[in-house]
Amino acid sequence: MPVNEQRTQSGGAGAPARQCNIAFIGSECYPFVKTGGLGDVMYALPRALIRQGCGVRVIIPLYNCIPQKFKDQMTYRGSFMMDLCQDGRAFYVGIMELVMDGVIYDFIDNREFFDWGNPYTGLWEDIPKYCYFSKASLAVLNYLEWIPDVIHCHDWQAGLVPVYLRARFDGTPVGSARSILTIHNLRFQGICGIQHLKYWTGLPDYLFDYPVFKQSEDEANMFKGGLAYADRVTTVSATYAEEIQTTFYGEGLNGHLWYHRAKLLGIVNGIDVELWNSATDKLLPAPYDAGNVLELKKQNKLALQDKLGLEQDAGKFVIGLVSRLTDQKGLDLVNAVFPELVDENTQVVILGTGDPRYEDAFRFYERENKGSVCAYIQYNEALAHQIYAGADALLVPSLFEPCGLTQLIAMRYGTVPIVRETGGLKDTVQPYNEVNGEGNGFTFDRYEADLLLDAVNRGKAVYLENRGRWDEMVLRDMAKDVSWENSAAQYIDLYRELMDA
Ligand code: ADP
Ligand code: GLC
Repeated sequence: MPVNEQRTQSGGAGAPARQCNIAFIGSECYPFVKTGGLGDVMYALPRALIRQGCGVRVIIPLYNCIPQKFKDQMTYRGSFMMDLCQDGRAFYVGIMELVMDGVIYDFIDNREFFDWGNPYTGLWEDIPKYCYFSKASLAVLNYLEWIPDVIHCHDWQAGLVPVYLRARFDGTPVGSARSILTIHNLRFQGICGIQHLKYWTGLPDYLFDYPVFKQSEDEANMFKGGLAYADRVTTVSATYAEEIQTTFYGEGLNGHLWYHRAKLLGIVNGIDVELWNSATDKLLPAPYDAGNVLELKKQNKLALQDKLGLEQDAGKFVIGLVSRLTDQKGLDLVNAVFPELVDENTQVVILGTGDPRYEDAFRFYERENKGSVCAYIQYNEALAHQIYAGADALLVPSLFEPCGLTQLIAMRYGTVPIVRETGGLKDTVQPYNEVNGEGNGFTFDRYEADLLLDAVNRGKAVYLENRGRWDEMVLRDMAKDVSWENSAAQYIDLYRELMDA
């Protein structure tokens, strides 16, 4: 159904509430381009919003790495030249469009910026790229004459959108929109020399004199500027919203966020429960639902063991880890206790890419534990599905975790999460209570390797010695609501609050 014909379902008695039109602006979106959870959210949240009556347009770059099959489905919507830099240098902006399940995707085409990377390259190139992208996204909305009520921007790559909106687009049609900036990960901020950012943004000097952008005497911070200028700031769990106001989690912006705390809100992520559905998942050897999980999960486990060269034994406790291999994910803890994780009853499967330090360590452990450990150093969507289905437990011991989606996917697939109590992990995994058997998974609090090992061992003990309790947890996890419906409704409340303000 075309966006503008949709009817809103919200609004009480009397005239139906006006439809919210929302523009999503971000640097990645599944299935076109995804490096992590941001891509999942840019896919799933717009679909949930559409189901609840909103109109949504998603704007992302037309990266060269987007598969050709999607490029072939796009249609050309127009182009124009846009001035960008301090010296007035102008750039081509092309618009390619694709409509999928009611969501309109507009891809910004510029070969000079988007021909390299997967999709990121490095800050030196990424900063100009996303200055251009942020400004072009607003210019595209004016060009298409589609003026959203709210512009919902994501992470530092779209951080300049709220700044451009006020500093350059006031008085133009899109200037009537309000803005929300969502923090998916505060670690990445887009920091560079003030002169570099001044040049590429073409923004007025006075903005760089105030604390808005200033990181230090000679450095500017794109995310910081966006957080100051956005009408509202959200992040992806209530706990992370609190954590980022502290020194430990604040990545140097805790003071800035504390200052802006009145406009800061945590709304927990969900997952797309159609995409992540073990009953219909075509990537699984043996799709299953809550009625047959206890039987069919074993078949998925055996198939996984076979595929990865592990000893085939449905009785082994299989721990999965699906993750970017970076410091954020708590992998130094895993490394520290790896030899103690594996025993005659336990296998470990790792899927991820990232820091060579971790890639090499996990390859080493695979060599040392042939048949019990598999380190699959790749980005592989199909294998990720098969691990969520075939493993018994999923390990997410993060140092910090704004929300985390892998523990949600795991629960939906009846795989018990073992997590550190931080950010969204704390908000979504209720610790197992051995007195009454309640809970969704195993947790530990302080960032210590022994505590991680203890949580794994507690899980393993229930699996091996108290299977009835374990199986109840599997079923409870599968029944848990991890969909977007609730959180999408919270975003709609926020959009309406801004529209009415
Ligand atoms: P983050 O965004 O910090 O990477 P999330 O837990 O929010 O963490 O999201 C990670 C997403 O990326 C999940 O959909 C997960 O399945 C996927 N993912 C991570 N690493 C891989 C990999 N190596 N292969 C396939 N999917 C992966
Ligand atoms: C980030 C975070 C992750 C979150 C994802 C989607 O990449 O690291 O915790 O789930 O964004 O919001």
